Amino acid sequence: MSTMEDTRPTIAEAVQALGGGPLTEESVREAIWPLFSRTLDRPSHPKLNGRPEVYLANHSLGRPLDQTARDLQRALDLWYRDMDGAWVGDDGWMAEIATYRRLMAELVGARRPDCIVPKTSAGQGLRAVLNAISDHGHVPTVVATRGEFDSCDFILKTYHAKGRARVRWVEPAATSPFGRYRAEDVIKAIDGDVDLVLCSQVIFSTGEVLAGLPEITRAAHDHDALMIVDTYHSAGVMPINIDGDGPGGMGGADFAIGGNYKYTRGGPGACWLAVHPRHLSDENAEQHPSDRLSTLDTGWFAKKDTFSYRRTDAPELSAGGDAWLESTPPIMTAYQARSGLELTLGIGLDRMRAYNLHQQALLRRAFENRGVKLYTPDASDSFGGFALLVHDEAPAVSDQLRVEGVNTDARGGCVRFGPDLLSTQDEFELAADIVARVLG
Ligand SMILES: Cc1ncc(COP(=O)(O)O)c(C=O)c1O
Repeated sequence: MSTMEDTRPTIAEAVQALGGGPLTEESVREAIWPLFSRTLDRPSHPKLNGRPEVYLANHSLGRPLDQTARDLQRALDLWYRDMDGAWVGDDGWMAEIATYRRLMAELVGARRPDCIVPKTSAGQGLRAVLNAISDHGHVPTVVATRGEFDSCDFILKTYHAKGRARVRWVEPAATSPFGRYRAEDVIKAIDGDVDLVLCSQVIFSTGEVLAGLPEITRAAHDHDALMIVDTYHSAGVMPINIDGDGPGGMGGADFAIGGNYKYTRGGPGACWLAVHPRHLSDENAEQHPSDRLSTLDTGWFAKKDTFSYRRTDAPELSAGGDAWLESTPPIMTAYQARSGLELTLGIGLDRMRAYNLHQQALLRRAFENRGVKLYTPDASDSFGGFALLVHDEAPAVSDQLRVEGVNTDARGGCVRFGPDLLSTQDEFELAADIVARVLG
């Protein structure tokens, strides 16, 4: 236990208590639930006889650990106590940012912590990349799927409208019951004019895993284009790896973006851009500085020797991934994300993935027993962390479910049901009852 007075388990103790085997509802309830006393103590829902709503929107906003509040308090305590001294020292704000970069690098299989550039949104990461490939008025050509999330979609359309990028959109194939994206269609859109290719590893609206990401990266590289992967719905859901070629691999993508809002319980603003080390100065010693990829989205934390206050006429960048930093960074986001990252990494992504797929299977069965068919993926791991009800009026169905006590959301003609470690089979049965009633 953490202290004599405090009998709450630490994350490390809880993970240890979980043991090494596959997760079960019993083991998770016993070992992990004590980390979530505040989240589990929600008010009862007016329609559910004294119990809280069934929260199945974990694929949207993840539920925080008790430790999250304590970590944020730690950041504030330093401020009150040390004022500007809070930035420095082994436990200071900068050290927490370094921890964030280390944990994130581990989560997404980046080779070095400094490959992770903290951002406050995934879109900010995309803009930093767009603003790195438009030097001297070059208007980059970007290939992107129509399945990119609204933020990236809107940014690309805005760049296009302002003459700052030309975008080639890749449409989904006409498949039933919703369009699926195929690597071959993305590859077909790549030619010698293309500068950047953007694909989500898991499509946000349907959860489809985009198969063939390493092949897309290779096709981009064959045409001297760069590859950026949106991992918002894969990081924290399944083992992923920027350099990998197998499942979860991105084939050595140049960039990845994502955020901790969802599966890793880190709340809004704890996002990041990963830059492949091949683009960092110290792995390119022979490269002339003017050929080095660098972005307009910069600031004094990207400067060489930030705190020397030395000014040169030509900007001199810091070494490694720090060259991609910007101005004075937010620090709360690093504290906010820590507990969820530690828990996810402590349990391990293999086990998290297996348990989530098991939960999705239980959900499907519970619904099927009430005559409601959830979408069944062709292979169990070809979709991400949530199950789908395909419905013409998905938004209205999701709204009604919320009124009745089941919290879901709807995107692109699908209601999304995302379980997490706090979800139970009993909740799946209750949700299935309510869905069957709402669908009539
Ligand atoms: C695939 C994907 N990318 C990005 C985001 C968020 O983008 P941003 O951080 O720019 O708001 C989301 C949020 O739902 C998402 O699903």
